[in-house]
Amino acid sequence: MTTTAQTSLPPTARQPLDMDGLAWILFGHAAFQYLNAAVETELLDELVKTPGVTKEELAERLSLQERAIDILLLGTTAMGLTVKENDRYRLADVLKELTATEDWQRFKDTVGFEQYVVYEGQLDFTESLRTNTNVGLRRVRGTGRDLYHRLSENPHMEAVFYRYMRSWSELANRHLVDALDLGDARALLDCGGGDAVNSIALAAANSHLRATVFEIPESSVITQKKIAEAGLAERVDVIAGDMFADPFPGGHDVILFAHQLVIWTLEENTRLLAKAYEALPEGGKLVIFNSMSNDEGDGPVVAALDSVYFAAIPAEGGMIYSWKQHEECLQKAGFGEFERIDVPGWTPHGIIIATK
Ligand SMILES: C[S@@+](CC[C@H](N)C(=O)[O-])C[C@H]1O[C@@H](n2cnc3c(N)ncnc32)[C@H](O)[C@@H]1O
Repeated sequence: MTTTAQTSLPPTARQPLDMDGLAWILFGHAAFQYLNAAVETELLDELVKTPGVTKEELAERLSLQERAIDILLLGTTAMGLTVKENDRYRLADVLKELTATEDWQRFKDTVGFEQYVVYEGQLDFTESLRTNTNVGLRRVRGTGRDLYHRLSENPHMEAVFYRYMRSWSELANRHLVDALDLGDARALLDCGGGDAVNSIALAAANSHLRATVFEIPESSVITQKKIAEAGLAERVDVIAGDMFADPFPGGHDVILFAHQLVIWTLEENTRLLAKAYEALPEGGKLVIFNSMSNDEGDGPVVAALDSVYFAAIPAEGGMIYSWKQHEECLQKAGFGEFERIDVPGWTPHGIIIATK
């Protein structure tokens, strides 16, 4: 007999909400804790290795007491992460498919980020809305002016953050590599480029391209290490600095803001884009790569949910802005011509390419 879990998900703006959907939202925090525990106890990986195990076998393999495995399997099965057939457990089909790909580790890295970087600070979401600033940063130890300047003061959080950032980029940046025609480009500037994940992917795909990652000094050590590991130190380098306070390094005909313009206010974004416009030659390209919300302001759901983090934690402003909002900033910064590229997949990634 198969136990059919009731897994109807919270509806989107295009389906009316019912009581089951409302209950999913009410207990959404608990749903995530089941997912996180299923990852951290290695329940999901165990079911990849041996599908069709009993509860008793799982308890032994995961070193969990009877009550603990009862709770975990009740939750994962009720939510549809696991399926119970004749007292044996297997992964849901969606997870089975995901675990067979490289995106499985990327997904788990995202779970870790939600648990260890996002979760606690979101308690201050309401206060962040009321005061229009990131009140949740107070829950991150340290004195840095924003989350990024506090990461080096929190080594575990820093490791979780950059592991996730790399994975979140890699979930979508193959589309960036495909969409960006860099045949005529010489040098790319990757503003706030993190551990160089996107510069590395673009340089690897364009053998003539040089790339410079512009990163804060505290994180540039990680950037340097990842570039060396990728064997690209001859074509990808790092400049440590502050993209708000310091001039943009010159000599680049493409400037990339990847997962960057979701952090700051629209005024700050316009300032950054205007600096980029000044730094680019005629015909140079400006590329925005991050999650996008739709112009109607009602989705997609992941863009809406991710905005809680950007409102509450990293910096004073930020949210998953709409395509239109980015385009308005580009226009104010001087750009007249731009193209939208929708990225397929479950993440709400999009690309805007503007030409000077
Ligand atoms: C959300 S992460 C994105 C990293 C990378 N672009 C990616 O897509 O994976 C934002 C990055 O911007 C960097 N950053 C924040 N403020 C900065 C500043 N003022 N100047 C330069 N980089 C900055 C952070 O250190 C962090 O690595």
